[in-house]
Amino acid sequence: MSRLRTESAFEVLARARALEAQGRSIIHLEIGQPDFPTPPHIVEGGKRALDEGWTGYGPTSGFPDFREAIAAYISRTRNIRVGAEQVVVVPGGKPIMFFTMMAVVEPGDDVIYPNPGFPIYESLIRFLGATPVPIPLVESRGFSFDLDTFASKVSSRTRMVILNSPANPTGGVIPRDDLARIATLLRERDAIVLSDEIYSRIWYGEQPESIAAFDGMLEKTVILDGFSKTYSMTGWRLGYGVMPVWLASAVDLLMVNSNSCTASFTQRAGLAALTGPQDCVEDMVAEFRRRREAIVHGLNGIPGFRCAVPQGAFYAFPNITGTGLTSRQLADLLLEKAGVACLSGSSFGSYGEGYLRFSYANSLENIEEALQRLRTLSDHWAAIRG
Ligand SMILES: Cc1ncc(COP(=O)(O)O)c(C=O)c1O
Repeated sequence: MSRLRTESAFEVLARARALEAQGRSIIHLEIGQPDFPTPPHIVEGGKRALDEGWTGYGPTSGFPDFREAIAAYISRTRNIRVGAEQVVVVPGGKPIMFFTMMAVVEPGDDVIYPNPGFPIYESLIRFLGATPVPIPLVESRGFSFDLDTFASKVSSRTRMVILNSPANPTGGVIPRDDLARIATLLRERDAIVLSDEIYSRIWYGEQPESIAAFDGMLEKTVILDGFSKTYSMTGWRLGYGVMPVWLASAVDLLMVNSNSCTASFTQRAGLAALTGPQDCVEDMVAEFRRRREAIVHGLNGIPGFRCAVPQGAFYAFPNITGTGLTSRQLADLLLEKAGVACLSGSSFGSYGEGYLRFSYANSLENIEEALQRLRTLSDHWAAIRG
């Protein structure tokens, strides 16, 4: 247990709520969840399922028609061919990380992963007694990997490689050429790729690709995706993995031993999401795009900040080294003095130092207000630095 870590987003949220309880006005730019309600036709699908009695246990890996729909969706969107037998439905995207890593990674194995990156990757690597091999993401490369470092770290000990595109916390998208090089490095190796594609539908420029579509990679890739971000369904707890059949059997076994199955009516809502109209996703992404422009422009006007334009997800990840403060100092200061909740880059790994993460899953009005508060407070950076 002592090797497990947490997600600081939940800690900062608790601190921000405590300040609110004291009467302080807080703007929440720390949480990674869309601020839109779940689209009505999906809610309706869930309600209908409850009325129809989808309230008992279902098959461990998910209902067959739902797994079929997911397989068809992934085949279509990733340009690959997968079948329902490769799909395991689980309560959220996170369990796919937990279960596939538990199934594949042994003590002493190397696991390669992005840094700064989703903190649960490193937490689980350590939990399983494996060796974390962080690869820095490089601001000047749109927060893709330093590929030479990547190549130098791949070895016969590498058991798993975690990719995340579009990425949390940087908003970076791994370009096609980089994926091709990574595929070349891994193709002949006995390693599994965990491709975290939870933000697959939220992008603004070049459409993100899946490494699973590259020659020889499908049989060694787990695609992690789900409904939390795409359909604003974080609290429904619904996600899935698409993986080789042998691994799907292992994850099924882990599911029997832990959850029995994913909630039945939630899966029917998921089916309504995949088979229903998709303009809700397009509208959400269009709104995120407007906010992205506002927040990037605003952050670039703050003394000591430099913010690259994120290509996906809903996070801005400005470089704040010009303020002379550490990311933790600055995040604390923004919360305490300006009532703006954000996350320090260092909470995403050591290479995140010098950055802050702002989630722009909040209204334009609140984003503008947060930027105004930052501008006001920025007069004090120098004084605080001393
Ligand atoms: C990169 C990444 N992967 C996975 C998840 C987990 O998604 P879920 O809430 O569906 O478990 C998140 C949530 O923040 C995330 O940022």
